[in-house]
Amino acid sequence: MCGIVGYVGPRPALPILVEGLRRLEYRGYDSSGVALVNGERTVAITKSAGRINVLEQLLDYEHATATCGIGHTRWATHGAPTDINAHPHTDQTGRIAVIHNGIIENYRALKTYLAQQGVEFQSQTDTEVLAQLIGLRYHGNLERAVREALLEVDGTYGLAVVCSEEPGVLVAARKGSPLIIGVGKNENILASDAAAIIAHTTQVVYLADGEIARITADGFKTTTMDAAPVTKELEEIEWTLDQIELGGHDHFMSKEIFEQPAALEMCMRGRIDPHTGSVHLGGLTDCARELTRAKRIILTGCGTAWHAALVGEYLFEELARIPTETEYASEFRYRNPIIEDGTVVIAISQSGETADTYAALCEAQDRGALALGVVNSVGSTIARQTDAGVYLHVGPEIGVASTKAFSGQVTVLAMMAAFLGRRKHLSQPGASQFLEALSVIPRQVEQCLATADQCRAVAERYHERLNWLYLGRGFNYPVALEGALKLKEISYIHAEGLPAAEMKHGPIALIEEGMPVVCIATNCAQYDKIISNIEEVRSRGGHVIAIATEGNRGIHEVAEQVIHVPDTLDPLQPLLTVVPLQLIAYHAAVLRGCNVDKPRNLAKSVTVE
Ligand code: F6R
Repeated sequence: MCGIVGYVGPRPALPILVEGLRRLEYRGYDSSGVALVNGERTVAITKSAGRINVLEQLLDYEHATATCGIGHTRWATHGAPTDINAHPHTDQTGRIAVIHNGIIENYRALKTYLAQQGVEFQSQTDTEVLAQLIGLRYHGNLERAVREALLEVDGTYGLAVVCSEEPGVLVAARKGSPLIIGVGKNENILASDAAAIIAHTTQVVYLADGEIARITADGFKTTTMDAAPVTKELEEIEWTLDQIELGGHDHFMSKEIFEQPAALEMCMRGRIDPHTGSVHLGGLTDCARELTRAKRIILTGCGTAWHAALVGEYLFEELARIPTETEYASEFRYRNPIIEDGTVVIAISQSGETADTYAALCEAQDRGALALGVVNSVGSTIARQTDAGVYLHVGPEIGVASTKAFSGQVTVLAMMAAFLGRRKHLSQPGASQFLEALSVIPRQVEQCLATADQCRAVAERYHERLNWLYLGRGFNYPVALEGALKLKEISYIHAEGLPAAEMKHGPIALIEEGMPVVCIATNCAQYDKIISNIEEVRSRGGHVIAIATEGNRGIHEVAEQVIHVPDTLDPLQPLLTVVPLQLIAYHAAVLRGCNVDKPRNLAKSVTVE
């Protein structure tokens, strides 16, 4: 979704802004722009619809000596993705330029008011309304003008503002949309995402909701909306630059699929001890007793995180014997959920910025639940809002299609389930066996990655078929959903995931000669039933691509293609069976010529409801 970058310091701002925007590209955008404060009467704006390459052709690097500026990638909400609607927007004097992530909900009322004051608008955006309002409130003090304007605004914002009359000053404000200040030597960089900062510094300050920052080359000052000073702690970003670069891969998605063994090692490091059957999750220490008394768990998230939650539901019920439900975060908030004493809500989010998940979390807290987070992005909005939680520690995920985050989410939920299980009904030998199996998963994922050529062959054979089915049972049912989501989001092939036995209740009507049907048929209690489901597909002409455990009885007789994964305990199978499905989706998208890392219409973190 939209991205913000701002720079103030001794260096020319433009190359830093454009490099920052490139690092934010992965979030999804449809236009981009920059504003430079160069000592003229107005700020210099360059912006255009389309990719950053288009913007770059309009930029004059040679003459851009300004050392303060802002840049933006826009994902259209109000108004089409056109040159005019791209950010930055200015007030009508051209002195003030604004970039904005989020939505100004009362922009219509504000627009009417501003029009009555004689303001003429150039664009259809809510952001221009904000720029004009700040312009109207500006009487020589940018910070004050921003504060006064924001007091009149309803909605969400991550905001950066510059003014030609105050060169060397950036004003930023946050409500519901993240902003980070990267603190360098005699320079400061503002961004909505750490990816735009880490090439310059790893020392950061996270703005909290309701805070305004006045940033100059020598420092920054943070205040509340009431102008009360706020002291901020410097924090260190754990990410490294190579984690957000391609490192020889063609796409971030492939890099991140292949990073999974190492990512899961990091995720589990120091957290499990198979010998003693114990799990150490520092983030849960303070709430361990309350958690142990949990009578009900609600797991919530969106998209891939929701699929991980479905696996978590099985894990918590199996290992901890606590009734567990999975809810779409987008539905949870609006359906008057019942939160009784002893309800624990766990919000799952890679980015930690998903608006629906954040809203569900706040709803759960308002209703008295203990609210935990399973989040990848350290310091993100959701991570900060939760009462406690466990980070994934799988490193930044740049590809829009979530891969290693899914594996990390399932791994964390498995550890949490074992952690709780040991405090409930799970015996020490039972926990040891589970954790032993978990500890070898990274090596087994490597074996799954060795099926890449087979997965590519499947994609080569079927990438022109526009309807696919994915079937799985038990722990592998969520994996079927995830496999289907991966395929559709990056290759634009229609795919549906189903619990295998449900197929005969309707979707079986879709099966026709040669239709690819991916069946997860690993060793498990329902193996024979899955084989029956596969027979049903075959007898109607469907082509079965089976994800099976080595040595599975009879699978070669019924499947067109068989991809083997190693054997593990049933609850951990999703960590292995998902890998070939990620690879099939990846290769199908590449073969279809799709932009794998930036699929159409999608954004990496969805910060609107
Ligand atoms: C799918 C995908 C999305 C996200 C969803 C939640 O590949 O990436 O479905 O999983 O938008 O995002 P987070 O986990 O950041 O809350």
